Amino acid sequence: MRILSIETSCDETGAAVVEKKDSEQFVRVLSNVTATSVALHAKTGGIIPEFAAREQIKAIIPVIVRALLESEKTRFNLNQPQRRLNLNEKKVEQANFILRKNIDAIAVTHGPGLIGSLLVGVETAKTLSFAFDKPLIPVHHLLAHLFANFIGEISNFQFPVSNSTFPFIGLIVSGGHTDLLLFESVSEFKWLGGTRDDAAGEALDKIGRLLGLPYPAGAEIERRANMVRKSSINFKSPLLNTEDFDFSFSGLKTEISRFIAKKHLTERLINEICYAIQEAIFAVLIKKTIRAAKLYKINKLALGGGVSANNSLRELFKLKIKNEKLKIKVFAPQKNYSTDNAAMIGSYALLNYKPVLWKKITAEPDPYFDWLLAKFV
Ligand code: KG4
Ligand code: ZN
Repeated sequence: MRILSIETSCDETGAAVVEKKDSEQFVRVLSNVTATSVALHAKTGGIIPEFAAREQIKAIIPVIVRALLESEKTRFNLNQPQRRLNLNEKKVEQANFILRKNIDAIAVTHGPGLIGSLLVGVETAKTLSFAFDKPLIPVHHLLAHLFANFIGEISNFQFPVSNSTFPFIGLIVSGGHTDLLLFESVSEFKWLGGTRDDAAGEALDKIGRLLGLPYPAGAEIERRANMVRKSSINFKSPLLNTEDFDFSFSGLKTEISRFIAKKHLTERLINEICYAIQEAIFAVLIKKTIRAAKLYKINKLALGGGVSANNSLRELFKLKIKNEKLKIKVFAPQKNYSTDNAAMIGSYALLNYKPVLWKKITAEPDPYFDWLLAKFV
């Protein structure tokens, strides 16, 4: 089965062609194209939804055409994937041909996300589904972050799709969400807990802004933390010792703004603050995720979302498991599939193939899981 997948939930416009063969235990990515409007949002230090939606409209067709062409690059001699795609008639015709002949179905993120951005992907996918007569699979963006773990290629973290894949504990840590799930089967999950306020990535981005770092700040905070590798500063890890699976990161922002108000911010101090922020946020993520694994007697953890690209988070998980002598395996996607991308949407749709008539699909901006459970599962 080969799927064209589309992702437009926020400021990235993504299209990918993914495939899974019955004989293989992973999802193969034939192309994965992402256009981003992050440079625009860096100017304002955060996303302005209306701007993000306008950029989605400009990018959606070129990105889809490009993903289709790249999925057959040898055939169409498209060996310069980084070059801007010039949408001439011949290329559009070739993309039409590929979609008609080689694609079995279309998958699209229908939520959660920014409504304006979501609508661009959803309406485009519905139109393509209708015009090309292809089944359409609506995909929940957050669940797809975890299914990025099933994308293959050479990776230490590859999570093979097999009879023993489930159950696993999934930790989604992105710019908009922090959620802990127990995945019982490919389509059955239980929500264990999540953030009460800011998401982990959101906290990193907002703290980065206080420190004068570029938006989004997660990767820069990681880079700076790596430069010191220790810190004399300690920020309180929020809700570390509570018996629930809740998280709360908005207080950290206040704590840090109070802390820096009295200080002269040198480069060294900023780096140490970055290290200390990571420590505080990661400690609670790791403690509660491992507690969930112990409580439900589950020996596999899958991470997903932009913050899961962070090496220290991945390493600290492993270290904690080793120190506690636990028999738990941690998986995380290849880094380019941790942050928003369309390949993960396709991965979810391949493993959870549930087409819905295009007419019935609507954009669902609501950040919770209940609408999904009520509607399609
Ligand atoms: O999953 P994602 O691309 O978008 C959402 O669905 O929100 O996540 C974006 C978030 C941003 O907050 C960004 O700062 C964070 O992921 N991020 C990182 C790293 N790379 C991206 N956080 C920590 N370390 C990183 N290396
Ligand atoms: Zn995301």
